[in-house]
Amino acid sequence: MDKLRILGGQALAGEIQIAGAKNAALPILCAALLTDQPVQLSNLPDLQDVRTILKILMQMGLKVTFPKPDDRSVVILDASDIHTPEASYELVKTMRASILVLGPLLARFGRAKVSLPGGCAIGARPVDQHIKGLKAMGAAISIEHGYIQASFGEGHKALQGAKIVTDMITVTGTENLLMAAVLAQGKTVLENAAREPEVTDLAELLVKMGAKISGIGTDKLVIEGVAKLHGAQHAVIADRIETGTFMCAAAIMGETGADLLLKNARPDTLDAVIEKLREAGLSIKTGDNWIHVQIKQRPKAVSFRTSEYPAFPTDMQAQFMAMNAIAQGSSRVTETIFENRFMHVQELNRLGAQIAIEGNTAMTEGVNHLSGAIVMATDLRASASLVIAGLAAQGETIVDRIYHLDRGYDRMERKLAAVGANISRIQ
Ligand code: EPZ
Repeated sequence: MDKLRILGGQALAGEIQIAGAKNAALPILCAALLTDQPVQLSNLPDLQDVRTILKILMQMGLKVTFPKPDDRSVVILDASDIHTPEASYELVKTMRASILVLGPLLARFGRAKVSLPGGCAIGARPVDQHIKGLKAMGAAISIEHGYIQASFGEGHKALQGAKIVTDMITVTGTENLLMAAVLAQGKTVLENAAREPEVTDLAELLVKMGAKISGIGTDKLVIEGVAKLHGAQHAVIADRIETGTFMCAAAIMGETGADLLLKNARPDTLDAVIEKLREAGLSIKTGDNWIHVQIKQRPKAVSFRTSEYPAFPTDMQAQFMAMNAIAQGSSRVTETIFENRFMHVQELNRLGAQIAIEGNTAMTEGVNHLSGAIVMATDLRASASLVIAGLAAQGETIVDRIYHLDRGYDRMERKLAAVGANISRIQ
């Protein structure tokens, strides 16, 4: 099992290329199921989760070609011969986002058999809203032997447009229902829709494929169903969470110093994160597709509560906790999206942090320094938090179980080593 070995205390300086967004790539790859014509994607990140969803799609009969030899950022998807509209437990259990095949399979083929995704480290993660919305569109859905069996309702040749208000804001729920609605008969209104940039990126691809969607970027999406969608070309939006992760890596370096130019970034999708990092004392300059961050003094502790976009993203909470651990002052962080997303806290405390949890709030007293130790990754963003802490900790930190990290970051240790970090992957 791979581990990362980090010797802390190295200043960071140089350029980092930001990859395409994992959480846009996953629904966008599933959207290729909605047409029998080729869909060409670029700026695709080379991640474990992307490889998993491609495996699931290929098992159904979707053809995947990488037109440029040894460049996995450009892919052509051909769903003209889907013979098995199913997603097996073996693959779905490794990645909950596989649920995103349900909407497109049902919309185009009128039947789908998708394993119920299990929970995961950060929470139960139910999919009741996905199912509620599809039923509102007339789908017949039963759950047996751990599988969701879905089909058009009795006597229906397609899903029916409906007015849907989800009980809470759900990112993949919005994406699943959006992909189902584009081929439904009639008009669908999705109220309380998620506004994350990755939802917008999916919607923009669907419009390029011939879908009729209005209200993109707002919490009310209106979709006029069409009979067929055609192929399209699309560049996946830059990963705002990878970008924020490297900005936190800079901030935690404090007086050791950091000076990073993040390229191919989308600062306009990071307002809440940029505001909090400026409050922490990180100098941040931005352009259309780049962010220049610098620091030369100890960061200041920042408090925040996570919430849906455009507010502070839950996927940045663990990374900020690492920075707060050695920042000047105390901070309160409240996690409102997931019920168990503080598993990085006990690992950060092993590095010398002073964090106490009360319900869904973590109180941190900044300490002068962390000291390296062996720590264990538990989920994707917790892994990133431990790497960030290791960059600043005195001595050697070993981060175990970094398969969690590889799910959502494209060779993070190489990108950090290229800007001065003493970090390497060991067996
Ligand atoms: C997406 O997960 C992201 N994953 C997550 O990123 C992200 O943390 C999350 O949105 C919140 O922003 C992808 O986009 C692939 P939700 P998702 O449905 O869609 C509850 C990462 O680190 N809920 O918006 O699964 C749910 O339990 C990952 O990249 C229901 O109760 O999250 C949670 O409390 C982690 N029933 C809240 O809503 C449902 O049917 C928000 O979940 C759906 C959701």
